Amino acid sequence: MATPPPGQPAGPGSQGAHPTPGASHAVPRHPRLDPLADRYAARTHGMKSSEIRALFSVVSRPEVVSLAGGMPAVTALPLDAVGSMIGDLVSGMGAQTLQYGSGQGDPRLRERICDVMALEGITDAHPSDVVVTVGSQQGLDLVTRVFCDPGDVILAEGPSYVGALGVFQAAEARVRHVAMDADGLIPEALEQALLECRAAGDRVKFLYTVPNFHNPAGVTLSEPRRRAIVDLADRYDLLVVEDNPYGLLGFDHEPMRALRARNAQRVIYLGSFSKTFSPGLRVGWVLAPLAVREKLVLATEAQVLCPPSLTQYAVARYLDTQPWREQIKLFTELYRERRDATLESLDALMPPGTTWTRPDGGFYVWLQLPDGLDAKLMQPRAVAAHVAYVPGIGFYADGNGREFMRLSYCYPEPDQIREGVRRLARVIEAELDLHSTFDSVDTGSFRAVGGAPRVPDVDPSVGPVTGDRFEDRA
Ligand SMILES: Cc1ncc(COP(=O)(O)O)c(C=O)c1O
Repeated sequence: MATPPPGQPAGPGSQGAHPTPGASHAVPRHPRLDPLADRYAARTHGMKSSEIRALFSVVSRPEVVSLAGGMPAVTALPLDAVGSMIGDLVSGMGAQTLQYGSGQGDPRLRERICDVMALEGITDAHPSDVVVTVGSQQGLDLVTRVFCDPGDVILAEGPSYVGALGVFQAAEARVRHVAMDADGLIPEALEQALLECRAAGDRVKFLYTVPNFHNPAGVTLSEPRRRAIVDLADRYDLLVVEDNPYGLLGFDHEPMRALRARNAQRVIYLGSFSKTFSPGLRVGWVLAPLAVREKLVLATEAQVLCPPSLTQYAVARYLDTQPWREQIKLFTELYRERRDATLESLDALMPPGTTWTRPDGGFYVWLQLPDGLDAKLMQPRAVAAHVAYVPGIGFYADGNGREFMRLSYCYPEPDQIREGVRRLARVIEAELDLHSTFDSVDTGSFRAVGGAPRVPDVDPSVGPVTGDRFEDRA
């Protein structure tokens, strides 16, 4: 039997394996458990199985109030009307709806997508500039594939959407977080990051940002900051990837003007029907300048040949025949009621020292625990108390965020939300009690600076994507 490399047990999978010194991907990892362990690509090594995936089997139990998942309230859709619309599509246009389609997506749907984007001030988009994708998640993946080599730097808000971090990790890009506050990404912090990357010789491939009703922070980029960020993009030759699934879900004001509406050449825009219609249909899109768009089409053809025809026709038909603007209004009223239930309960019940953001749209509240508490360590006790949330650490590529958690109010009914927040407040109080009992123990200082509502200032060091990934799917 071959001698195993240091630290590796000999086993069936290690036979015949000759790891190249220094090539980490060639080192057998769990040869006893997986005979193919020494064959996987290096990029798979950072892929961690998620604690949240395990948590999801727990949170689906009826006794648990889940403030964890970001699932849209699809039961508010006119399900019968949607059902017969899809049935009519297949019986009326079966040959097309069940056939392969174009890699770029159905032209009729791309036209309608331009109408949707006009609601956020994007009035110059042509259907030929749009690429239909399998949710905006595939759009994110395509853009990252087209632009990033291993080691390239992506700037991203701290915290950032967990699904984007997973894509960046898979591409072996390095994520550098840029601080946010209640008005979204801080332009001065962005400029500082750009200067430091420049000084370090790091190639910044793009800024990834979610300007509206941020996932997970719940905050929205203010109008002056939108101008400042587009201005910085011009001055620093920065490409911006604007990920905007929630922009039409505002509670208090008309949709804000997209970054893409201010600069068509420097901003790649990602859109989705997951939050305004249905996430299960998996229809999103990318709006990009011509040269980028051509590469995106080649990349998507290599990946999926074409987006699914049936769901594209379903979305186009929905936009053509159903009152979709009224439906979005209905969704926002429902989410507003749930946001109110969340904020009122938090205001009434949370112990001193706990702070949170106050979203005016979208799905999420970002909560900061009192000094020294750790949302991840607290999670099993919360689940035991029948309430679930997503610990903040999953939204950072650099291990930060332990004192934060994301609460989603999109799915539970207001009464469930109130009960969930009541349970959570008790868990935090118990944790505080425990903490004060052991206050001689050095718990470390995770706390961010600044006034409530707060999103942390993040250690600006560039690091590989190492944070836990959560099978959050939203
Ligand atoms: C910020 C953000 N971007 C992208 C996505 C992915 O959405 P889709 O369902 O369109 O793939 C989500 C889903 O929650 C999200 O929150």
